[in-house]
Amino acid sequence: MMIANRFIPPATTSPFRDDVLDGLTRKSKTLPSRWLYDERGSELFEAITRLPEYYPTRIETDILRDSAADIGGLIERGAALVEYGAGASNKTRIILDALKSPRYYVPIDISGEFLLTAARRIEAAYPALHVAPRVADFLGTLALPQLIQGAPRLGFFPGSTIGNLTDLEIHSFLARCKASLGTGARFLLGYDLRKSPDILIPAYDDAQGVTAAFNLNILARINRELGADFDLSQFKHVAVWNEAQSRVEMHLESLTQQIVTLGAVQIRFVPGETIHTENSRKFCQDTMRRMCSAAGWSTLREYKDADNQFAVVMLKSDNLPS
Ligand code: AVJ
Repeated sequence: MMIANRFIPPATTSPFRDDVLDGLTRKSKTLPSRWLYDERGSELFEAITRLPEYYPTRIETDILRDSAADIGGLIERGAALVEYGAGASNKTRIILDALKSPRYYVPIDISGEFLLTAARRIEAAYPALHVAPRVADFLGTLALPQLIQGAPRLGFFPGSTIGNLTDLEIHSFLARCKASLGTGARFLLGYDLRKSPDILIPAYDDAQGVTAAFNLNILARINRELGADFDLSQFKHVAVWNEAQSRVEMHLESLTQQIVTLGAVQIRFVPGETIHTENSRKFCQDTMRRMCSAAGWSTLREYKDADNQFAVVMLKSDNLPS
């Protein structure tokens, strides 16, 4: 007998399901931002990077181009480039072109399909490069491929993705990178600087609604992958500047009183209640310097644009264990 063609989620647990259930049953509802990046989410984020209001990608790309020669001079020949949260790998080419005969490229990303497509493109463009993609959450433990052991290592974490993390996560991420990249490693880190909310808010709430679609897509993903029944038209994207925490927050605001069903769980919303989906922190230079140094990285270079909007730092692994 055919019962219904409703999607019945499997009884097995998944990290996505666990995070969603945990986040949506709290008093202040939240969803970890890494789940924004399914295939559709990664595509929407790429579209965000091309928006006129979204300055970080353009400015960071310019900084990397302007600093490429200097960066190349700081890294020994035949290096391994390890990129965390690799995405579309556009900035990667600037670094690969700046390095002297780079030998290995290890892109790490949680979005598998997207990562492999980008990795294949890099592989085709750089025939002398060994490309070894890793599908993983870069916040978790990750053993780097054995084959890069003998090569000089450069970690690369562009895009201000570090701004999604809490202090504790930043510390453990940077300390773990130091441990896995090993003695003598260098690390190129891009982060967004504090600036006026008049620039920040449009960057996270654009006129075309691409960021809204990106944020709402997490609800579509929960419907699709976990069998929930979110009505996307009953939620609104909001971006707010939290001065005390120095961050832009993305939320999904319930427009009505409603109940959403996720398997056996019912999630109630009152009008105006939000799900907090992302933090995008904006840093002072000395705050960042201090955090890096606490995790065993000293600052070799600080590159910025003329308007002090964005910063890229070259770090050097301290000899002492952190
Ligand atoms: C990819 C995390 C750097 O925080 O600016 C863009 C994500 N969210 N617009 C950011 C994002 C909304 C982006 N990062």
